[in-house]
Amino acid sequence: MKRINPPYEPHRIKSVEPIHLLSREEREKKITAANYNIFKLDAADIYIDLLTDSGTTAMSAKQWAALMLGDESYAGAVSFRHFEATVRDIFHKQFVIPCHQGRSAENLMFSTVVKHGQYVLNNTHFDTTKGNTLHKGGIPVDLPCPEAALDEPAPFKGNMDIVKLDDFIREHGADAIAMVMLTITNNSVGGQPVSMENIHAVSDICRKYHIPFYFDCARFAENCYFVKRDEPGYHDKSIAEIAAETFDACDGVLMSAKKDGMANIGGFIALNDEDLYRRLTELMIIVEGFPTYGGLAGRDLEVLAVGLHEAMNLDYLAYRINQVAYFGELIKQAGMPIVEPTGGHAVFIDAGAFLPHIPAEQFPGQSLAVEFYREGGVRVVEIGSLMFGDIDPETGKAQTPPKELVRMALPRRVYTNTHYNYVAEIAAKIVEHKKNLPGYKITRQSPLLRHFTCDLKAVNPKGVTV
Ligand code: F0G
Repeated sequence: MKRINPPYEPHRIKSVEPIHLLSREEREKKITAANYNIFKLDAADIYIDLLTDSGTTAMSAKQWAALMLGDESYAGAVSFRHFEATVRDIFHKQFVIPCHQGRSAENLMFSTVVKHGQYVLNNTHFDTTKGNTLHKGGIPVDLPCPEAALDEPAPFKGNMDIVKLDDFIREHGADAIAMVMLTITNNSVGGQPVSMENIHAVSDICRKYHIPFYFDCARFAENCYFVKRDEPGYHDKSIAEIAAETFDACDGVLMSAKKDGMANIGGFIALNDEDLYRRLTELMIIVEGFPTYGGLAGRDLEVLAVGLHEAMNLDYLAYRINQVAYFGELIKQAGMPIVEPTGGHAVFIDAGAFLPHIPAEQFPGQSLAVEFYREGGVRVVEIGSLMFGDIDPETGKAQTPPKELVRMALPRRVYTNTHYNYVAEIAAKIVEHKKNLPGYKITRQSPLLRHFTCDLKAVNPKGVTV
């Protein structure tokens, strides 16, 4: 077996938070009471929580210290000026609008720019970006590169399909398109990065047709690291230089700062278009807050001003990306097929390939997620037919995702390599009895985003309750 080196942590631990593994009997009771929906478990009943990397970051000593400097003035707070200067410095945009998280930035932006029936093009929309586009009467279109769907590893599987982008614009006309977005890294296809070559190609096309070009840049620092590591010509550039080149190519950014802002809450829009800035801030005063705090406390803005720079630290990024790769390798060695290469923030297990005896309509990913909790108190999330198989309102048919995946997201700076060794041991135990894992059936669901609240029960291959 290949020996894999765990990544070296560029920090030591100053404050700890106890976690506790319930007994097997207790776990069994909890998951039954949750109707086999991992969103309904109490966090206190979980040993290792890999549900998301969003808002789950451990803050640094510097961030905790910055918190005390929060200026809570309603207008023109010193903390806002610190935050604004940091965002201008990294993202090279003049106007900075703080928001309480990513989806509120999306809500503001799409409410302001999307006209009914207009398209928003993206390498792949994250579900809130898609939801916000639809909510404003827009039509979200995903244009992932062809390699995104392949099993073979490729370096920049997060790219947008440039040929399809150009074809789409020529077919529908530039006026039909509200904006083009690139999500970096591309969360929905496995946290895969987007190359600088692709960024420039998208930018050139948008400039040619005069279409606004924005980033959904929740994980921008992780993307910059992949460019530095894997793209010819970028090895000797700093993360700040790569970020500058990235953002000079666009008109503006929307960011959920709960990821590479290294904070537990926050987001923003940054742009150069003064007229659009005015329209966005007129709306935000009604729905989000005054433009110098945007639904956040002054102390949150201080924390972000520190965190955005920490996310770009090279030692931290090398550790972060290597920890994801290390964990992915352990899961693979345990006998579970994963999406390769591993991306920036999570390991994705191909549950459809792992549990071929469970058909997609019986949710193999959910079966595996339930088993991770049962076997080891680990919370992971299904990203397959349960999450995306809602009825399409236009066609009336259940939508089918290309793969039945399970996502194991790595919170930033939270779990040690030993924690990930433990999860891999649980994976190895599941491999031993995988043939006995049941399928699941929904017993109650809501019409939208059903995975958050639905109830399920275990069924045999004939659909009979077991
Ligand atoms: N864009 C991307 C690429 C995201 O991954 C998320 C959130 C958002 C926007 C929305 O930001 O949560 O601050 O409102 N992703 C989380 C996840 C929820 O688990 O992947 P938000």
